[in-house]
Formats: sequence, C-alpha cells, structure tokens
Amino acid sequence: MSTHDLYVHETDAPLWQIPATGNARFTWEYDDGRDRLLALYQKGKDKQWDGQRRIDWDLEVDPYDPLGTPDEALTLYGTPYWDKMNEAERAELRRHYASWQFSQFLHGEQGAMVCAARIVESVPDMDAKFYSATQTMDEARHAEIYGRFLHEKVGMLYPINDNLQSLLDDTLRDSRWDMPYLGMQVLIEGLALAAFGMIRDTTDKPLPKQILAYVMQDEARHVAFGRMALRDYYKQLTDAELREREEFVIEGCYLMRDRLKGAEVLENFGIPRAEADAYSEQSEFLQLFRKLLFSRIVPCVRDIGLWGERLQRAYVDMGVFDMGDHNLDQLMAQDEEIAEKLDAERFAAEEAERTAEVAEAIEEGKTLQ
Ligand SMILES: [Fe+2]
Ligand SMILES: [Fe+2]
Repeated sequence: MSTHDLYVHETDAPLWQIPATGNARFTWEYDDGRDRLLALYQKGKDKQWDGQRRIDWDLEVDPYDPLGTPDEALTLYGTPYWDKMNEAERAELRRHYASWQFSQFLHGEQGAMVCAARIVESVPDMDAKFYSATQTMDEARHAEIYGRFLHEKVGMLYPINDNLQSLLDDTLRDSRWDMPYLGMQVLIEGLALAAFGMIRDTTDKPLPKQILAYVMQDEARHVAFGRMALRDYYKQLTDAELREREEFVIEGCYLMRDRLKGAEVLENFGIPRAEADAYSEQSEFLQLFRKLLFSRIVPCVRDIGLWGERLQRAYVDMGVFDMGDHNLDQLMAQDEEIAEKLDAERFAAEEAERTAEVAEAIEEGKTLQ
C-alpha cells in the first residue's frame, strides 16, 4: 500500500529537495587510515544484519497500544480532555502518539542515510569514507525496519515534524564538510538514541523492543564515528570557528527541546497548539523525558571539544549540564550488550523449542514401531 494512503494528513510535497553546495572530494591516499576508525569500519562490516530475518515480524502488535505506554506518559493525562475521553478515544490517542514518534524515527533515519552518503562524498579522508559507507547501509536498514513497522503494525504515519525538517535542512545546506556530522551524528542521532533507549528499556512489547535494541547496536558505532572524526578535526580549528559550531549546537538543542513534543498529535484531537504546548510543559513525565533526551548529546559535545562558556551556560539553563560527565563508552558498550543478550535469549528459546520437537518426533516414532 502506498505510504501516502497511511499519512494522517497529506505531506507538503511528494519530494523534498535541498540544493547541495559542498564539494565532492577524492583522495589518492588509500593506505593512511587511523587505526581506531579502520577498526570501527571493520566492525561495521562484521556486524551487518538483515532486518527481514533478524526481527521476528510474526509477533503481533496492538495498533492501539503498540508500546504498552502507561497513561501517565501521555501529555493529556490528568487534563479535562483526558477525563472526557472514553477508552476507545484513549486507545486512538495512543496509536497516534506511537505513529508520530516512530514516523519521526523513520524520517530521521532517512535523513541519517542521506547525511551518511553526503559524508562519503565530502569528507577528505579515505578511512572516514569507508566507515561512512557502512553507516549508509545501516541507516537504510533502519529506515526499512521503521517503515515496515509503521506500515504493517501501526497502519498510520505522520509527516516529518517542521522543526526536525528545518534542522535537517540546515545540516544538509551547509557547505562545510563537518556540518552533517555535527547536525546528524551528534545532535539528531544523539537525541534519537536517547529516545530509542528510553522506549527500549520501558516497553514490555517484544517487537518494538527487538527493533530498538538492534537499531541501537548499530547507532552506538555511529556516535563513536562522529566523536572520533570531529575530535580530530576540531583540534585544528580556530576559536572563532569553534564558536560558530557551538552556536549551531545551542540553537539546535533548544529547537529540539522546545519544538519536538508531538503538539501536532494533539491538534488532530482538536486541541489548539498553544494549549497543547502548555500541557506538555506541565507534564512532569514529559519534563523528565525531555531532559533525558540530552543524555547522549551533552557528553558527546563536550568530548569533541565544543565546551565554550556560552554552550556551558545554555546547558545549565536547560538543566542538563551535569550530563556532560556521563560515560559514553560505557553507555555504548551497554547498547551492544543488550542487543547480544536479546539474541542469546531468543536463540536459546528457539533451541529449546527445537529440542522439544525432536524429542516429540522420537517419541512418536517409538509408538509407531
Ligand atoms: Fe539509524
Ligand atoms: Fe545512525
């Protein structure tokens, strides 16, 4: 079925076109890679997987509660609107929220695929081109999986959020080669990773859990790549050049915090935008959620050397400054472990089932004799 039949409302145009301004770069040095980047490239190749096979698509999903979201996590909870809604309307609201959230993941993954391909084109070093080529494939897989989940299991999609689109636009329009890294690998991926993690760790539904755990296993590599490449490059920049990057980060962070709240979902339920914004400000759950969204960005920004005074002040203002101390390596090791553990559990269960089937067949064989 065409995706256009599943959008809650029409998208602006069937194609979104951003003019490219940067240079494509070739290098003739093929044997001068940085060991850590090449090791990451090797890992990227070793850990390829097929979303059609690794994910158990036969698992059922309730489209009206795809994630098992508790009531308190919904913006409207505790408001007069919520009190007036019957169970069917609340279920519809859950479906819309899940659809909105996963649609942003899907559009973000397409953005990540395009940015990774742009990096292949524009980054000057071969080791980074190699790595980014594996990431392009990873992002294609992610977009494919989220798309399938929305088509088959939720049956509804939301267009891209305006502010996510504008951040992507700024990221891709810029001619400096490090900007797709900063906008995509650090900001958008950092935010997405934190959101994936919160859902992965709280949902009790097996299908979305598998999807998020396996996608995060790849994303851990992507963030590591952005950090390595930018840390090296930013050491060579002047103070003025670093401040420009910091301004971009500050603006992007405020934009994501204040504008990526799903107010468009509530508008579909007849609630005016200003009121929807006010409800999401009031919700304690959402306040915490929005803070946690920065748990991967802040330590990364600090690590790559964008830690000027203005940026630090902005993070104090947002209440996320302390997250700069989070240990990213540890978080990423955990992401890998969770995916591997999930595989081990699933394969152990399948193995047990197979053994039981074999034992049963032997028993049947005996009675036939
Ligand atoms: Fe991705
Ligand atoms: Fe990614």
